[in-house]
Amino acid sequence: MRQHVNPLSRFFQLDNELPKANKLFDNCDLPIHLDIGCARGRFLLDMASATPMWNFLGLEIRESLVIASEMERIQFNINNLKFLFCNANVSLDAWLASFEKRKVEMVSIQFPDPWFKLRHRKRRVLNSSLVLSMARNLDEGSKLFIQTDILEVMEDMVQQIESSQFYDKALEDNFSFTMENPFPFCTEREIYVQKKGLPIYRQLYLRNSEIE
Ligand SMILES: C[S@@+](CC[C@H](N)C(=O)[O-])C[C@H]1O[C@@H](n2cnc3c(N)ncnc32)[C@H](O)[C@@H]1O
Repeated sequence: MRQHVNPLSRFFQLDNELPKANKLFDNCDLPIHLDIGCARGRFLLDMASATPMWNFLGLEIRESLVIASEMERIQFNINNLKFLFCNANVSLDAWLASFEKRKVEMVSIQFPDPWFKLRHRKRRVLNSSLVLSMARNLDEGSKLFIQTDILEVMEDMVQQIESSQFYDKALEDNFSFTMENPFPFCTEREIYVQKKGLPIYRQLYLRNSEIE
């Protein structure tokens, strides 16, 4: 049984300062794909192995998963990938702001924890502060990909992103939330959902030129 952690608990409010990008990867000049809530990291292990011209960073709030993912990454000698333990809602803003030259060209948030109860919704990882932080720190044209099997979560993410005015849909006529996955590999949750035959809602956004 999978354990959720409460990202708002006092323990997870501690700011876990993330290492600078030049300490994470062998080749720091490559663009970075950031995956928020990467769980056991299989998607990123596949992506990094197949895509040597990008660096990949997975953030995950459950430390045991990060330890296991890192062990596998090291075992397979994958040097364009790093997994870090943190609460993205606490630690990501300073990390994004620390870049001299902006490098994060893709952010993905895939099948985030749903937190259905009204009083728990503030635990959802994609909130207005996270959107603002990405908008403030990432360049025009950088991409934001979201997917989930839960329509209510999709609608909330879309509302958070689109009400910010900082992101435009990559395909303006795509309002169905059922585009093809732009990546050649699936996440763990995505594989499970596909096996169950459940719908998947997806959207790809581009950072526009709106100034904060
Ligand atoms: C439902 S799982 C999906 C995992 C993976 N993206 C996938 O599609 O298989 C959501 C993941 O996000 C992590 N998570 C939730 N809140 C987080 C936060 N604030 N910072 C970092 N990770 C978080 C959870 O621990 C969990 O592993």
